[in-house]
Amino acid sequence: MALEIVATEATLGAVVRGVRLAALDDAEFAAIERAWDDHAVLVFPGQNLSEAEQVAFSRRLGPLERSLTANNVGADPEVIVLSNMRDDGTLWPARSAHGLFLQGNNYWHTDSSYKRVPSKGSALAARVVPQTGGETAFADMRAAWDALDAEMRGWLEDKRAVHSYAYSQGKVGGTEKLSKDEWDALPPVEHPIARRHPATGRRSLYIGRHASHIAGEDEERSRALLERLCAEACRAPRVFTHRWRAGDLVLWDNRCVLHRGLGHPADQKRHMTRTTLAGDGASNEWSLSAP
Ligand code: OGA
Ligand code: MN
Repeated sequence: MALEIVATEATLGAVVRGVRLAALDDAEFAAIERAWDDHAVLVFPGQNLSEAEQVAFSRRLGPLERSLTANNVGADPEVIVLSNMRDDGTLWPARSAHGLFLQGNNYWHTDSSYKRVPSKGSALAARVVPQTGGETAFADMRAAWDALDAEMRGWLEDKRAVHSYAYSQGKVGGTEKLSKDEWDALPPVEHPIARRHPATGRRSLYIGRHASHIAGEDEERSRALLERLCAEACRAPRVFTHRWRAGDLVLWDNRCVLHRGLGHPADQKRHMTRTTLAGDGASNEWSLSAP
């Protein structure tokens, strides 16, 4: 079966079939990179990659990012384990620090926006999925920018948001999973709200749960504005929701997409592995150099 790329009905997202990510030739890889720029989220059903194959595919897109240790990093620092299963197969209670830490993912966000150099993209693979719920939703921040009125775009153009993990995760809980050294490495950082994609030149709205307020503006009022912008952005036709089957892999562009988990019954297992692409730019202290 030849490579097939079918766009979703939303403004972002496409489903890609007819390729094996574990054995891509250069032409297929180039087609996937082009499709990623066009659609921002690519769903690859039924890939069943090993962790090593997930890492190898992700590395073709760029160097990977070092995660927070609280992300339950296993033997390989390049693989983030998002799982409610303990090593012995029992489940973490939803109200445990680990459960709360995972729940942070259920609010619209873009990965690592609280870092000085945020992530470029993420690849998430489903290994154990719950029977009900556990979907991941994606929202198109390019289309969200385009949908703003000219006055708002003009006002936001040169504004920067303060992104803070202490702010975002502090609202949810589970913050004790980070060590003091790790907190020290995560001071609040500023990023432009209007972001231009380096490959497509398209503008997008760079906000989400880690964005606490707008630099230089009244904190409370600018926080309320960011919340309103996020709520309006993350609506049809800009949202695509993926219902996982074990073996699927989804690749998204953190520079122009927000995402969130939709949650699932706490007594059902869910085990996912994520590889995270380090952001471009010289001297990214979060980038893991290729071995
Ligand atoms: C992530 C994330 C949401 C989910 O992997 O970065 O936010 O549905 N995941 O697991
Ligand atoms: Mn995430």
